[in-house]
Amino acid sequence: MNFATRAIRVAQDPDRQYGAVINPIWQSATFAWESLDDIPEFDYTRVANPNRDSLEKVIAALENGQFCTCFASGMAAIVAAFSLLQAGDHVLVASDIYGGTFRVAEKLLPRQGIRVDTFDSARPESIFEVAGPETKLLIFETPSNPNLRVADIAAVVSVARELGILTVFDNTFASPALQRPLDLGVDIVVHSTTKYISGHSDIIGGALVTNDEDIATRAFEYAKTVGAVPSPFDCWLTLRGVKTLSVRMQRHCENALALARFLESHPKVASVTYPGLASHPDHEIAARQMSGFGGMIAFEVVGTPEDAKRVAEATRLFLLAESLGGVESLIGYPPLMSHATMTEEERVARGIPPTMLRLSVGIEDIDDLIADLDQALAKVAEPIREGHGLAAVR
Ligand SMILES: Cc1ncc(COP(=O)(O)O)c(C=O)c1O
Repeated sequence: MNFATRAIRVAQDPDRQYGAVINPIWQSATFAWESLDDIPEFDYTRVANPNRDSLEKVIAALENGQFCTCFASGMAAIVAAFSLLQAGDHVLVASDIYGGTFRVAEKLLPRQGIRVDTFDSARPESIFEVAGPETKLLIFETPSNPNLRVADIAAVVSVARELGILTVFDNTFASPALQRPLDLGVDIVVHSTTKYISGHSDIIGGALVTNDEDIATRAFEYAKTVGAVPSPFDCWLTLRGVKTLSVRMQRHCENALALARFLESHPKVASVTYPGLASHPDHEIAARQMSGFGGMIAFEVVGTPEDAKRVAEATRLFLLAESLGGVESLIGYPPLMSHATMTEEERVARGIPPTMLRLSVGIEDIDDLIADLDQALAKVAEPIREGHGLAAVR
């Protein structure tokens, strides 16, 4: 089965009782045993549940992996990967990793006796500079947030392998529809299924996928032990969302490329960052590594930070909201939203100027999206009259 078919048919046969094409939500904490000699397939939902089981099989199939464990959030999946470490170990975190992952590395791991350093995933050789005999694991992601830098996954894996370091890759921004890191040698893929995999901004979830049976067993044991598992309803919603992952991603990519081109030619836009543009510094790597360039764009407004904020508040279709990967378009102002915990200095050092905006481009009609950004950009340096986001659609 090819990718789009797997998303719809793997582990999703009609239900055995009535032949319902869509399986019910098995909303039960516990399952009855026929007898004490006959341990049922499912016995308690923190351990396993039919809806979660289907979702795990689908996500594993989409990532070309053998084993998947689903979690209650992307962060829970990432912490599960870190749970493979023990006191005395050293871990490397890519410098442009998601803020929540950085928070775990900075605040939680040192308290467990685990040393943390950063490395530059754009320069795989930087791993040699910081790795030592205790370095057990490294974590990275690409495209990164919000600069959308694209690291060469196979090159990072090759250095890590040489040094015997386990690789963890966060594939949230691309989704398995555009990039399959296990095929490039990564040991563990993690996801915030909250984003593209579920695709409708209605659940919080995570997943960990691997081909290594020992790692898979430990991830499952971790989920079961700490209870960081998704509810049957959230799994069911995610299964519904994942069926359309392939077509959604095609449309996200088409819309994002058209918008990036529109923004590039706009007089009130100082710069546009989108891996699909030839002007992007990592365009060549992205073209080789990904089957589409994704739905995320960052751009800088000409003018002051106030102008950037005004644009964010002036959009009507683009909702001013955190997160990404849903069918609806979102606009974000990183200094006050996704990267608010950093100081201005740290942000600028990481290439996040105060005039930058981030878009999660949805699957609406492209002409409407362009018109929306055009009218918002026209308001630069003008007072806002019409409310924004939620206020405008109510
Ligand atoms: C790249 C990436 N990884 C992980 C997460 C964490 O996911 P969750 O919010 O589902 O815990 C996020 C959330 O924004 C993210 O963007």
